[in-house]
Amino acid sequence: MKLSGTGRKAEHGGFGVLILAAGKGTRMHSDLPKVLHPLSGRPMIHYVLRIANALKPDGIGVVIGHHGDEVRKLIQDSLKDWGISRPITFIRQEDPTGSGAAVLEALPFLKKFQTSLVTCGDAPLLTFDTLFALINHHRNQKGQVTILTARMRDPKGYGRILRSPIGEVLRIVEDAHANPKEAAINEINSGTYCFEVPLLVSAVKKLTPQGSKREFYLTDCMEHVRAEGGRVGGFPAPSQEEAIGINNRVQLAQADRILNRRLLERLMLSGVTVVDPNQTYVDSDVEVGQDSVLLPGTILRGKTKIGKQCRIGPYTVMEDCSIGNECSVVFSFLRDARILEKTSVGPFSHVRPGTVAGPRARIGNFTEVKASKIGYGSKVPHLSYIGDAELAEDVNIGAGTITCNYDGKEKHRTTIGAKAFVGSNVNFVAPVKIGKGALIAAGSTITEDVPEGDLAIARSRQVNKPRK
Ligand code: UD1
Ligand code: MG
Repeated sequence: MKLSGTGRKAEHGGFGVLILAAGKGTRMHSDLPKVLHPLSGRPMIHYVLRIANALKPDGIGVVIGHHGDEVRKLIQDSLKDWGISRPITFIRQEDPTGSGAAVLEALPFLKKFQTSLVTCGDAPLLTFDTLFALINHHRNQKGQVTILTARMRDPKGYGRILRSPIGEVLRIVEDAHANPKEAAINEINSGTYCFEVPLLVSAVKKLTPQGSKREFYLTDCMEHVRAEGGRVGGFPAPSQEEAIGINNRVQLAQADRILNRRLLERLMLSGVTVVDPNQTYVDSDVEVGQDSVLLPGTILRGKTKIGKQCRIGPYTVMEDCSIGNECSVVFSFLRDARILEKTSVGPFSHVRPGTVAGPRARIGNFTEVKASKIGYGSKVPHLSYIGDAELAEDVNIGAGTITCNYDGKEKHRTTIGAKAFVGSNVNFVAPVKIGKGALIAAGSTITEDVPEGDLAIARSRQVNKPRK
């Protein structure tokens, strides 16, 4: 089914999506606006916008209010990155007096369309398939409102759906106002609806403030629509998890777990082994190649990309890294680094931004590498700090070797030529250059360049004396 476009437009008068995101998010107890709280590495609102965009509406409206400028700026700055191509209109709600008041502010936007999906910025688990099916159902039923509902094991906190004996939706009662019989109903309002706009416009204008907070509930529209002869239907979501609305940090954690599970399932179905999905976390943009294995305690953040046949973990955290094919990374922390194929990292390595290592290189136990190139086949296997350095191919660095790259004011570079052999416990006082094939004696503190092929010894000679 096509939702809009020229042919459909004539028939339906256009289709819009309205996202309500102006609420205070009081229950989050946070300085960060609720819809900007991250889930699997992306702000909550990203998921809602992505799906809204995928429905190909003629326009997307976002009602902003609390910290509205922050929300708008983040969305505007991220549109390209998130692949949002549909036009977005921001609507300001100065006074966050309820979901109904938010829709009232959005009427000039909504009036451009015949049909509109209204959804919440705090419902990031909805799927494209479900919303597509909801819209389809709405059009087939030819009613005025279709509510996306769900059966919840624990419906507490949600608006309940009251149906007539023959199953028509009569109204929605908010949790705070439900009597015990209504509270026992487990069909809830997901906060997502399909409206025929003309009736929504007149219904929303009739809302009156409710409760101690004097809020205008969008959910009260149902009765006004029915009073005007309109039909209200309910369309159940295929699973309760899709309908979760995030109002507090407990729900935030639940949503994070669900999203993570979905991402891991996608990876597993594409040929990645995830040994324990309950102990493995990936962000939305992470890619992992076929036949790679993610061991427990693996956390892959940002735009991390893992090649094929890699072994990652256990207990490894990576952020924005690119890992080539057939690499292994064990018990390590890596950020903004490129590890080229057949390279091994860890256990207990810290690989910092600007590092490029491999192919066939090794960064080993208790080694820190920063802004350095570790060339083809080069090895830094034990207890080293390599910073602002360039190691050509087949360099061997002995245990405990350090680049002294910082003089208290500036950083300096260390360059080590191909096949150089560096003994244990060497200090390279940068800037310094080591020629190809040079041999650096263990325990040396190198302060001057070493020519190609030379042996450098820079330590005091051992003296053995008889004890008195
Ligand atoms: C709302 C529904 C409830 C439903 C639940 C699903 C109402 C009255 N209740 O309750 O029936 O079961 O969602 O998760 O709608 N908002 C504004 N401006 C405001 C107030 C809220 O834009 O002045 C936005 C919020 O940012 C949020 C959405 O509206 O995205 C819903 O508000 P929220 O406070 O989360 O309502 P719930 O209590 O979750
Ligand atoms: Mg909510």
